[in-house]
Amino acid sequence: MKGLPYAIAGLLSCVATVQCLGEPCKDCDFTSVVDILSASAMFSTFLRVLQRNGDIPTLNELQNFTLLAPVNTAFAGLSDSESIAGFDISNYILRDRVLETSAIDNGTSVIYEGVKFPLGLRRDESGPIRINGAAVVESDLKPNFQNATVHGISELLPDPPNSRGLVHDINREGRSVNIFHSFVESFPGFEQMTDNNTLLIPSDVNFFKCFNHIEINYILDTFDELSSLDGPLAGSWSHDRQIFLQNLICHGIIGGQTANRQIVKNLNNQPVQVTSHELGSSLSVNDSTPSNQANMIFDRGIAHSFSDLPFLPDAFQFTAEKYLHGMNSTDFVKELYFRKLQHMIREKSLHQNLTIFVPEFNSNEHQGFTKSSLLYHFVEYQLWLEEEFKDVNRIHSSTKTFPSAFCSSNKRLGGNCQRLRITKTESSYIINDKYRVLHAKPYMVGRTLVYTISEALQLPGEFLFSLNPFHHCSKSLSLLRQVNLLNLPLNNKGYTILLPCFDSWRNYDLNFEYLRNNATAVEHIAKSMILQSLIYSDTKTQTIEVSNMLDEEVSLSIHPPRSNRVDIELSNVVGKIKIERGLDALFNQGVIHPLKGFYLPKDINISLKDLIETSGANRFLELLENLEDFTSMINESIPFSVLVPMSTFLGPGGITGSSKNLQDFLKVHLAIGSSTHSLLKCDGTISTLFGEPLICRQSSTGDYWLKLQNGDDHEVRILRRGCASSGNESCVFLIDRPISIRWLNRDKKSLRLPGIAIGAGVLVGSVSMLAVFLCILLVLFGKSAKRSPLPASADEEHTNQEARPLLANNDSSRAISNLSHEQNGRFESTYSSNASVPAIDVAYSPR
Ligand SMILES: *[C@@H]1O[C@H](CO)[C@@H](O)[C@H](O)[C@H]1NC(C)=O
Ligand SMILES: *[C@@H]1O[C@H](CO)[C@@H](O)[C@H](O)[C@H]1NC(C)=O
Ligand SMILES: *[C@@H]1O[C@H](CO)[C@@H](O)[C@H](O)[C@H]1NC(C)=O
Ligand SMILES: *[C@@H]1O[C@H](CO)[C@@H](O)[C@H](O)[C@H]1NC(C)=O
Ligand SMILES: *[C@@H]1O[C@H](CO)[C@@H](O)[C@H](O)[C@H]1NC(C)=O
Ligand SMILES: *[C@@H]1O[C@H](CO)[C@@H](O)[C@H](O)[C@H]1NC(C)=O
Ligand SMILES: *[C@@H]1O[C@H](CO)[C@@H](O)[C@H](O)[C@H]1NC(C)=O
Ligand SMILES: *[C@@H]1O[C@H](CO)[C@@H](O)[C@H](O)[C@H]1NC(C)=O
Ligand SMILES: *[C@@H]1O[C@H](CO)[C@@H](O)[C@H](O)[C@H]1NC(C)=O
Ligand SMILES: *[C@@H]1O[C@H](CO)[C@@H](O)[C@H](O)[C@H]1NC(C)=O
Ligand SMILES: *[C@@H]1O[C@H](CO)[C@@H](O)[C@H](O)[C@H]1NC(C)=O
Repeated sequence: MKGLPYAIAGLLSCVATVQCLGEPCKDCDFTSVVDILSASAMFSTFLRVLQRNGDIPTLNELQNFTLLAPVNTAFAGLSDSESIAGFDISNYILRDRVLETSAIDNGTSVIYEGVKFPLGLRRDESGPIRINGAAVVESDLKPNFQNATVHGISELLPDPPNSRGLVHDINREGRSVNIFHSFVESFPGFEQMTDNNTLLIPSDVNFFKCFNHIEINYILDTFDELSSLDGPLAGSWSHDRQIFLQNLICHGIIGGQTANRQIVKNLNNQPVQVTSHELGSSLSVNDSTPSNQANMIFDRGIAHSFSDLPFLPDAFQFTAEKYLHGMNSTDFVKELYFRKLQHMIREKSLHQNLTIFVPEFNSNEHQGFTKSSLLYHFVEYQLWLEEEFKDVNRIHSSTKTFPSAFCSSNKRLGGNCQRLRITKTESSYIINDKYRVLHAKPYMVGRTLVYTISEALQLPGEFLFSLNPFHHCSKSLSLLRQVNLLNLPLNNKGYTILLPCFDSWRNYDLNFEYLRNNATAVEHIAKSMILQSLIYSDTKTQTIEVSNMLDEEVSLSIHPPRSNRVDIELSNVVGKIKIERGLDALFNQGVIHPLKGFYLPKDINISLKDLIETSGANRFLELLENLEDFTSMINESIPFSVLVPMSTFLGPGGITGSSKNLQDFLKVHLAIGSSTHSLLKCDGTISTLFGEPLICRQSSTGDYWLKLQNGDDHEVRILRRGCASSGNESCVFLIDRPISIRWLNRDKKSLRLPGIAIGAGVLVGSVSMLAVFLCILLVLFGKSAKRSPLPASADEEHTNQEARPLLANNDSSRAISNLSHEQNGRFESTYSSNASVPAIDVAYSPR
């Protein structure tokens, strides 16, 4: 009976306007919506679909509605079954609304009530009205038996995609919403949140304006870590993503010009002011620039896309923790949580100055972190590497140490913080010689700086394992091992170890040998050079009292640094200790300074005699001790150096002769103090006590060779060196064989005086003949005589003087004949008798 008033009205109007047979029939008879459809051929397909679908009764029952009827062309190309598949009459019905085209506003409007999905209506100055893209080709057909209108539309109105599908479609159309699309794809329950709501879609540009790539990684969960987390770690991350999305979804369906000057609320309950432009065809929110694309319909709502949503970054605040997630360092975050250190990267990171060194990947090979080793990745202030090293533009690297946040080692470091040693090389920054900082500019979040490093830092280990093998400290270490100083007791202060490394021992191999045999001295030296305090090479200039391992209080002065060196003076050590800046080797109990020099405490005396004894040349020392010059120089501490021939050539009875010759022989082996430098460096002439200077030559193999400056080609090689503690001018040089005065070029002088030379020749001839004769006699008589005893001392020799060669001893002859023939040959020539000079009488020439 509902239709009755319409029937009457229709009848009246039909009578009044005699328009009955027009097609389409508008006002005649008791028309229903179905009648209208059947009256017009253009709706025949639609009608057939309705019939097949059983929708006719439904339509007839309806009142107060609008029907959008697709005309036949809308079904073009579709078979009947295709047309019916998925067909839903409610897609075409506006309930409780009798829509007349005259009532449709210019511009864009949105209908979302009484419809299955929102409809975007658009009326332009020219062209047809469009509803969700379909043109209205036939409008305002009104049945008189139902309160309704029918509009013919050019296309079907299939279900729009859901919100996820819409974002997907927009992205596929290449409208640069990749990032938001990725977000949506990884966000379960997205569709439910957009239900009956308005979605604001930020474009990629919008993201790049507001976030860096780390932040985007965090928002997107790029590394797909969130799903593997649980507890508060996962909770806060999920919550951020939730809040982030809720910021972009507004309650209700807002679009078209109805949206103008509305204040709506987003799902975080924050107000959002909406303004529409160009009659609703675009809109802006909170004064953003107008949307890129507005009024995009999805099944349960509407979406608009923007390239500068002003509140995009406002949803939550980034902390270091979130940055770590964004840097693919979730494992590191997990470790921090596991060790209850999460406060370091949460709110604290926003307000307190902090620097974090984050390992790039946490490879599974890494054994895991301890609480201490985790803390070692933090510095409790802002460490701007570029700023710290900005004065360093020289090619050579520069190193500084910085206290880490690992400060809890009271026993080992006395409550001081373990340091990080950072070296700036030409291309990057290296921590502790091993770990590379992957970018010079840190990421900054709150007050925290974050650097990525190549792998997880390990705390400096024990003394022995903390030294760089290239620093060549093994000699010194072997001495320390000898006196058990490689394991230092916990002292609640930390240690600074001054350790001779590199070629510190180069000029001191005899000292080294001496020390190897004197543990007392080693212990004393080592303990004097181990300080119970932390002195880094960048410790500022000052004078302080420190105690060494002998528990002596000594005063330590740090001089201002010069280029790459810092000089330190210790009141109990001779000389300035030169510390290379930045070579600090950190270990778990402090710092080691590998030194390039060798230093002795004041109360250790290593004498020339000690060194000569160490070289094994006791016999030579005996001879020297009978030399007055030697003893007096020793007594008066006059610096001089000794060239000690290798003992082999000076065995018992090795050398002897007249007092004069012996003295000359010994004196050519004593160099005056000021020449020691030349001996050590192998340059310049070396003045000997004998008077005839020596010169030094360095061979291609690096050996040092000495010869008489005015002598022939005979050379002796320096084998080992050592210097007395009394300074650097009293040294001992072990040489491979004695220097003979005979090597002097006397002949040259002779040549200048031929007469004398001839006379001398005659003399030589006769003397040598006499000598040969005497020899024969001696040998003959010697056989019957008792074996002569070893010459016990030089005194004895003095008394026996040149009367006879003392050393014709069978034992020594045998020893000598054991020498190689080459050496024998050399000796023969070296010590062959020469009549012009009284014989040195080296009787071991095995003639
Ligand atoms: C149609 O609209 C009128 C007026 O608003 C109302 O009285 C009537 O109940 C409606 N009919 C239906 C079926 O909703
Ligand atoms: C027709 O339907 C519309 C929408 O529901 C309503 O406003 C109007 O009052 C109805 N007209 C009649 C005559 O019932
Ligand atoms: C729509 O625009 C046309 C032409 O600009 C104008 O004549 C008409 O009055 C407008 N209608 C409405 C409802 O604003
Ligand atoms: C959809 O939103 C509108 C406007 O905010 C509201 O009136 C309506 O009740 C909502 N519908 C549902 C199903 O939530
Ligand atoms: C939009 O602007 C208003 C007023 O400036 C502000 O109160 C509101 O928080 C803003 N909305 C969002 C989501 O930031
Ligand atoms: C993220 O880190 C994991 C190890 O934790 C690694 O396997 C993966 O390759 C990293 N992903 C990227 C994109 O770097
Ligand atoms: C952080 O460092 C700045 C200087 O870099 C300093 O002014 C500020 O006081 C520090 N803040 C805190 C909380 O230590
Ligand atoms: C070892 O060194 C100590 C300290 O310098 C010294 O007193 C001692 O005489 C030395 N011992 C030997 C055997 O040289
Ligand atoms: C070491 O020698 C110096 C002089 O060179 C002397 O004054 C000092 O007493 C000596 N020390 C020891 C322990 O022999
Ligand atoms: C060296 O000094 C000691 C005592 O200090 C003395 O007995 C000795 O005679 C001195 N020797 C020489 C050669 O001066
Ligand atoms: C030797 O020592 C003196 C003073 O101790 C110093 O001035 C000089 O440079 C040193 N010489 C060498 C070659 O080390």
